Amino acid sequence: MYTTARDARHRIGSEASVRGWILSKQARGKLAFLSIRDGTGTLQLVCEKSRLGDDVFDELRGLALETPLEAEGMLAARPDTGDPELQVESLSFRPSEAEYPIGRKEHGPEFLMENRHLWIRAPRQAAILRIRDSLEFACEEFLRKEGFVRFDAPLITPTACEGTTELFELGYFGKSAYLSQSGQLYSEAGIAALEKVYSFGPCFRAEKSVTRRHLTEFWGVEPEAAFVSAEENMAFQELFIRAILGKVASERGDDLRLIGRDPADLELKSGAFPVILYDDAISELKSAGRDIFWGDDLSVEDEAILASKAASPFFIYKYPVACRAFYIEPDPSRPEVALSSDCLMHEGFGEIITGGQRASDYAFLKSRIVEQGLKLDDFEWYLDLRRYGSVPHSGFGMGIERMLRWICRLHHIREAIPFARTPLRCSP
Ligand code: 4AD
Ligand code: MG
Repeated sequence: MYTTARDARHRIGSEASVRGWILSKQARGKLAFLSIRDGTGTLQLVCEKSRLGDDVFDELRGLALETPLEAEGMLAARPDTGDPELQVESLSFRPSEAEYPIGRKEHGPEFLMENRHLWIRAPRQAAILRIRDSLEFACEEFLRKEGFVRFDAPLITPTACEGTTELFELGYFGKSAYLSQSGQLYSEAGIAALEKVYSFGPCFRAEKSVTRRHLTEFWGVEPEAAFVSAEENMAFQELFIRAILGKVASERGDDLRLIGRDPADLELKSGAFPVILYDDAISELKSAGRDIFWGDDLSVEDEAILASKAASPFFIYKYPVACRAFYIEPDPSRPEVALSSDCLMHEGFGEIITGGQRASDYAFLKSRIVEQGLKLDDFEWYLDLRRYGSVPHSGFGMGIERMLRWICRLHHIREAIPFARTPLRCSP
């Protein structure tokens, strides 16, 4: 049995076998310090020439970074920090073919992204990916506990969900098909069967947005529920956010600290998330000097202004109908606005969720489809959901990478996914 880097601290004082890859090394006379990493973290190995013999010791000094090795020895507490270190009695390794290209010197983001298949080994990147794993799991755990059934939406679709200009087109046996922008329309079919469902999978966006928060392929978690109003939908989003952040903070304390965060950074102020009407957001932006008018959609900069003043996540509610997708439910007392909301993260981060109540009236939905220049034929199946047993219902979609970016306070969303896809990058 091998002891992992994470478990080593619980095994101080005992013999252990470890294995991993060389992250860094330092030789001082007859002593060599190797830091190795495995899937759980890093561990220091202390190698003494007298114990290993001249040949092994000399070979060790010449090993490339990322050389895989196995070692046996005694786990002791480091005199300076109390962290575990392995006093190596024997070791074996498998020399690498070549010098590892990512060194200790600073590399630019382009070089690192070009070598993303290697960069993910860096402790900071691996920690972010473990935090991502917890975040994804936390979403599913919470939704299941709330009675939601996972309902996987197709990724190859005949139509647009969020707007026709942002589609990746595929050849599909002599016809056209598109990569899905969102699982929502299918989830709406799912709720009539299962009442509360969520889809969780890749979403594709073909808009050429070169920003620090846009990917062309991201992972969306999209709950949808029957008999739920827009206000109840927002209250549920708040529960969801609090639950997933709590879970990530408790499960990934070490990884958060490794990337320079404190698990306490994930704590949110108590009290309900504020709900700001779109109208008031526009007034606020105007008084902040923005050139914006009622009816305009909020830009990344507008959101950043609103979100940098906020002390907790908050909602912007009742957007103009014209800013939203075809499926929205209008406010019955003010039909020019939609019962639709965005949830923005504070500290200037901006949108992480869009959600709202869906049009439940057949004639209204049909008129919206026509108005938006969509082909009625394509949406007959979706209109069936309003023909047969239509009820008020709501849902929302959260981008995993957007949330992870806030959790880890990442400068750029490209670090929030193993292999980012952007308008400028589709490799490795
Ligand atoms: O705001 P969006 O486009 O809303 C929908 O797709 C709805 N159908 C969701 C629903 O109600 N089920 O996307 C939802 C979320 C955004 O709030 C954002 O977090 C994320 O998905 N998102 C992106 N993340 C990264 N890169 C992009 N290009 C994204 N576009 C949306
Ligand atoms: Mg949105």
